[in-house]
Amino acid sequence: MKDMHEPAPDLVRAAHIDSDGYAEMYARSVNDPEGFWGDEAKRLDWITQPTKIKNTTFAYPDVSIKWFEDGELNVAANCVDRHLETRGDQTAIIWEPDDVSDEAQHITYRELHTRVCKFANVLKELGVKKGDRVVIYLPMIPEAAYAMLACARIGAIHSIVFAGFSPDALANRVDDCEAKVVITSDGAPRGGRVTNLKDNVNQALVHSAEDPAVLIVKRTGQQIAFRSNGDYWLHEMEEKVGDDCPPETMNAEDPLFILYTSGSTGKPKGVVHSSGGYLLYAAITHQYTFDYHDGDVFWCTADVGWVTGHSYIVYGPLANGATTLMFEGVPTYPDAGRFWACCEKHKVNQFYTAPTAIRALMGKGTSFVEGYDLSSIRILGTVGEPINPEAWNWYNDVVGKGRCPIVDTWWQTETGGHLITPLPGATPTKPGSATTPFFGVRPVVLDPQTAVVQEETATEGVLAIADSWPGQMRTVWGDHERFVKTYFEQYKGYYFSGDGCRRDEDGYYWITGRVDDVINVSGHRMGTAEVESSLVAHPAVSEAAVVGYPHEVKGQGIYCYVTLMEGQEPSDALVKELQTHVRSDIGPIAKPDVIQWAPGLPKTRSGKIMRRILRKIAENDFGSLGDTSTLAEPEVVDHLIANRPQT
Ligand code: WT7
Repeated sequence: MKDMHEPAPDLVRAAHIDSDGYAEMYARSVNDPEGFWGDEAKRLDWITQPTKIKNTTFAYPDVSIKWFEDGELNVAANCVDRHLETRGDQTAIIWEPDDVSDEAQHITYRELHTRVCKFANVLKELGVKKGDRVVIYLPMIPEAAYAMLACARIGAIHSIVFAGFSPDALANRVDDCEAKVVITSDGAPRGGRVTNLKDNVNQALVHSAEDPAVLIVKRTGQQIAFRSNGDYWLHEMEEKVGDDCPPETMNAEDPLFILYTSGSTGKPKGVVHSSGGYLLYAAITHQYTFDYHDGDVFWCTADVGWVTGHSYIVYGPLANGATTLMFEGVPTYPDAGRFWACCEKHKVNQFYTAPTAIRALMGKGTSFVEGYDLSSIRILGTVGEPINPEAWNWYNDVVGKGRCPIVDTWWQTETGGHLITPLPGATPTKPGSATTPFFGVRPVVLDPQTAVVQEETATEGVLAIADSWPGQMRTVWGDHERFVKTYFEQYKGYYFSGDGCRRDEDGYYWITGRVDDVINVSGHRMGTAEVESSLVAHPAVSEAAVVGYPHEVKGQGIYCYVTLMEGQEPSDALVKELQTHVRSDIGPIAKPDVIQWAPGLPKTRSGKIMRRILRKIAENDFGSLGDTSTLAEPEVVDHLIANRPQT
């Protein structure tokens, strides 16, 4: 078939799963989930073997999700201790620092064990107990993994806040989860620039309702401001504690972590993941999606501040006893060859990144790839947003030299791991399609209006999932009702993903993007409501409406319609000021790309902003504005079209 990419026969032969194997295992996973997941649970070391495998219902409003509910385990023991006997001297983490002239570190499983135990004892020394929350606000350094595993070891729930987030965003998260400790560093080097993270923490805690202790990792040695009390250096605390720390016994359903993510309304919500089901799902997807074999070097370029980093830098790989690479820097520093230099240097076998990075590097030309020996790479992966065929083909041809299957993995913070993805030895790929469901996943395409399941193979609609899988989020931290409403109310009986999709005649899924008020900027999720509330908090702004628009590198850019207060004059200086305002309010990723002054916004007679029209104008698509007859003042649309800035 046209544009279908088949994996090479020798790759198929060596792979864990071929196409027949996939068909067989998939059928069992959905027809007999208890049997399938009961067997797969043997991947983990349990303190108490689970006998109750699946106890889940999507029935509104009594949604309840429990996997392995009578099982007991410790996640850190599964990611570290159980490997000591067989692979104590194997590298667990390769750390590649921001600066090319600094030496990479190779941390063995044995060293990892010592570091995690010491870190855990420090947390205990600071009074952290099972069930307490610990916020981690760190650069991409091994201590981020030690901190995660230390929490898991003592049963504390971690919540990582991406180090690119502002003090305000940090404070909101510290408050929402009532953190007992915040772990940070002095500085955070990235792309040759250093952010003073401790300063951000200090600012955040001035506004916070909580009074957490702050544990500081020394990364750069730069000057930092200590608060009058409650600040501790990690290295000083470590001198006081031993390296023996028995892992806490945890129920499979005990929360492992909270990760905040943006939705279409309100504040970011704390997505809660479990200990047993999550770990199992991260491990099995890491092994099969990337066809991971013992001895391979696996590199996921995400930040641990996102779910991708949780599942595919730390938990999945370490549960599998893998060697996982952690990179502190950015793809373009010192130049656009950094990824490939690093793949060559560490003989990377699986490389996993985001379409936005691929597009950015594609824009720099092939010269940055040529000259590096990329023959170690066997599998390429992408995640975060739909990948356009041009970027797919460049990745395939220039990076993979046509030899490496590309796994386009569709999933979400909420899903814990891949839901729709090719398996390298089993699934022929088509550029731009996430292809077929992972084991145990039952995707359905629903009619957005009638909620009817589309039975035909080739169809289009919204993407929902018909039954639970072990890696699914369990609740929203502190607000179970919000969990039920957000994901299960609109389409009763299903988990609603928020994405639209098309299914082709081969049953392949093509994700078409969000159908709610969430935009995807460089693979990062942004609620338009968050940007709007930041804009209207500025004294010059009376009203704001934010939508996404196509952006060559970022996938979607942030397009803001802004109505000014009486007496305020539009100016370029004000554009800059508003951009800076949102940037410092939320973080650099939320900086508006376009601000269009809007004397009025298109509203219905009942006062509802017609976002559909604003999206079309932002997309430069004026021909299909649809029905504008319900508008209170149709002329505002003409004004916006006539004054749309060049992008
Ligand atoms: C949203 C989830 C899961 C880790 C990264 C983002 C979009 C994700 C793909 C893909 C098309 C994708 C969806 C999804 N998305 N992967 N392979 N193809 N779209 O996690 O921040 O929770 O965002 O990212 O729109 O709903 P997230």
